[in-house]
Amino acid sequence: MSADLKTLSVVPNTGRSASRKSTEPDAVAALGRKPRLLDLFCCAGGAGTGYSMAGFDVVGVDIKPQPNYPYPFVQTDALKLDPKFISTFDAIHASPPCQSYSDLAKRNGNADAWPRLIDPIRDVLASSGLPYIIENVEGAPLRNPIVLCGTMFEGLRVLRHRLFEANFAILTPKHGVHPKVHTFDKRKSHYGKTDDMRDFVQVTGGGNCTIAAARDAMGIDWMTKNELNEAIPPAYTRFIGKQLLAHLLATKRAESKLQRNA
Ligand SMILES: C[S@@+](CC[C@H](N)C(=O)[O-])C[C@H]1O[C@@H](n2cnc3c(N)ncnc32)[C@H](O)[C@@H]1O
Ligand SMILES: [Zn+2]
Repeated sequence: MSADLKTLSVVPNTGRSASRKSTEPDAVAALGRKPRLLDLFCCAGGAGTGYSMAGFDVVGVDIKPQPNYPYPFVQTDALKLDPKFISTFDAIHASPPCQSYSDLAKRNGNADAWPRLIDPIRDVLASSGLPYIIENVEGAPLRNPIVLCGTMFEGLRVLRHRLFEANFAILTPKHGVHPKVHTFDKRKSHYGKTDDMRDFVQVTGGGNCTIAAARDAMGIDWMTKNELNEAIPPAYTRFIGKQLLAHLLATKRAESKLQRNA
């Protein structure tokens, strides 16, 4: 059964607050109100926080409870949302589960153990007619994706490639050289020679750093280690969110011009 407007209760979340000061007040003023972004498969809000920082009012959707999600939240299946609910937003971001597309699952030959939700969610997003972004790991079947990496953003210290497909153009920063990462692996030559609070780290299930280092490296101070493993750094979606705002403004201006000339 699809979740309709009556059954969906968007609740203000009491999760720990993320640093989410809007950086685009002029763009928001030009639209006449704060634009609304629907954050599908939101988990604890790494992606959502970047869009909030870019100037969006964010509402998250996840199939599991997300007590640490910092914004209004709806617990439901993202694939069964009512189109009327979706149409109350200006744009949509989706981060469907990545396990079945990951290198690890391919190596272990158990990729079929997880759902493959990219194609079905793309259908939902495309039929909304809204600008959208789908995020996933390298190896996932995204269409003409751009790649973001921690080396592209000042202040991040995480090696984390993520792909982003969008139905509008996104420019990318220059990709930096990957520095040697901190390791807890005694077999590696650089074991013990780097400092996980200063050098680049990898935030994964196996892990090569403390939770304090992972939080600091990702620019996320409110998540558990499991939530960090799933998250993308807010800097990635802040960067995309600014371009999304510019796209929304350009579309709005073009519509206004058409109306004036009609
Ligand atoms: C990779 S995590 C998202 C991470 C998030 N974008 C971030 O940056 O913090 C994927 C999330 O999808 C959720 N999920 C899985 N299937 C779902 C479904 N059918 N509907 C909604 N959420 C779902 C999982 O519970 C999980 O929290
Ligand atoms: Zn890289």
